[in-house]
Amino acid sequence: MYNHFINPKNKKGHINPELQGHFSEHLGRCIYEGLYVGENSDIPNVNGMRTDVVEALKEIKIPVLRWPGGCFADEYHWKDGIGPKEKRKKMINTHWGGVVEDNSFGTHEFMELVRQLGCKSYVNGNMGSGTVQEMSEWVEYMTFNGVSPMADLRKENGHEEPWTVDFFGVGNENWGCGGNMTPDFYGNMYRRYQTYVRNYDPKHPIFKIACGANAEDYDWTDGVCAAAFRKAEWQHGFMDGISLHYYTLPGDWGNKGSATDFGEKDWYRTLSKTLFMEELIERHAAILDKYDKDHKVGLIVDEWGTWYDVEPGTNPGFLYQQNTVRDALIAGINLNIFNKHCDRVRMANIAQLVNVLQSVILTEGKKMVKTPTYHVFNMYKYHQDAELLDSFVETEKIGAEEKYQVPNLTESASLGKDGKIHVTLTNLSSTDAYDLRTVLADTPVKSVEAQAVTGSMQAHNTFDAPETVTAKEFGDYKVKDNEISIKVPARSVLHLAIEI
Ligand code: AHR
Repeated sequence: MYNHFINPKNKKGHINPELQGHFSEHLGRCIYEGLYVGENSDIPNVNGMRTDVVEALKEIKIPVLRWPGGCFADEYHWKDGIGPKEKRKKMINTHWGGVVEDNSFGTHEFMELVRQLGCKSYVNGNMGSGTVQEMSEWVEYMTFNGVSPMADLRKENGHEEPWTVDFFGVGNENWGCGGNMTPDFYGNMYRRYQTYVRNYDPKHPIFKIACGANAEDYDWTDGVCAAAFRKAEWQHGFMDGISLHYYTLPGDWGNKGSATDFGEKDWYRTLSKTLFMEELIERHAAILDKYDKDHKVGLIVDEWGTWYDVEPGTNPGFLYQQNTVRDALIAGINLNIFNKHCDRVRMANIAQLVNVLQSVILTEGKKMVKTPTYHVFNMYKYHQDAELLDSFVETEKIGAEEKYQVPNLTESASLGKDGKIHVTLTNLSSTDAYDLRTVLADTPVKSVEAQAVTGSMQAHNTFDAPETVTAKEFGDYKVKDNEISIKVPARSVLHLAIEI
């Protein structure tokens, strides 16, 4: 029996909806086919956006979408993607498969997608191969409501009103694909480029995001902050957020491992690697604390998720992979970690939305399938805009290889906007169910509703069997006063909605 304590009276912070954000890049079949099929497609669409995909994403309350990359962002020239489609320039997508990018999905299309989804926009600018002027003019094009060369151009292209840009990234992975810069050089460039990311709409100031580190590259965070904060402490280094990228690979970059063909060893290795996210957040946050004592700057985990070998027979540059119960666990574990660190983590964007890496949706022609990761996001959506509660679960270490041992359980709890307490739990054991005693301090429980995503380690959804892994009603619990006794199944992610 493991004890699990929740103190409903001790609120620990606000969980931004954006902790459940997403990322869409011009990569493989994410944008084209996955999200955008064009107005003339026989796949049902509204203004070119797939209706099935948009409806599924609205269901999970997608809070924010990042675009156009990724590595693609630093070679994207936004003016190639506006105006009549037949006149738009074609380019080679050098990073992702060397395919022709016809720019038929550009700024107007992205903003139309954001409108249909009802989510916030996160636009990633090009510092690697773009000029300050180009970045500055993009922001003017999108957000200026008046007479100016770029606002006039937007109107000529059929959009009278400006759009809202909620988040703007000044470059992406500039330590690598975004220009191979050093932290000091990037930090100085950041100061310069962000100067011209103007806030044309005082009611909607743009949340500016500096390019942060890859995984445990702590020197990058420190070096960028040292340059950006120099004599700019009161302006918080000119940034509202700094990013962090961390992918979970069962193996290494040379041999990542299969998405579906794996055993128990890989199960625990992968879960233990994903748990490293917690240390990463804490250590990057500790560096931020040196510069930003009053916690104004957010840590933005704008790329996270699993990265496996591509599905056999698919283009290696398209990063198309399947998604199993192991991915469901990885999603649940990470979302619990983000909740627990909501004081610093202000946004997180799983990579990527459709057909790329740890997607919530896969498509094939007219068919669409929701992955196990989708069903986890659907259960966790109740944490959006909720208040994190003080909570703690007793755990033990499990897994045969000492180096890759993991706690058997993770959890987070929040007081939702609906007045209910929402608890999300993950059971990392590949074999064992656990008896859990969840105690709500001084708070009698009126009723509980529960759902679980579970299955065999490799269980996944295919176009022929799309409902193998879904969130199902869960009834293996008993309520008495302020206690809930739960049998948490092996390999599961659970959501409890507790009426108090
Ligand atoms: O998500 C795929 C790629 O991973 C992104 O383009 C890049 O930012 C990261 O290396």
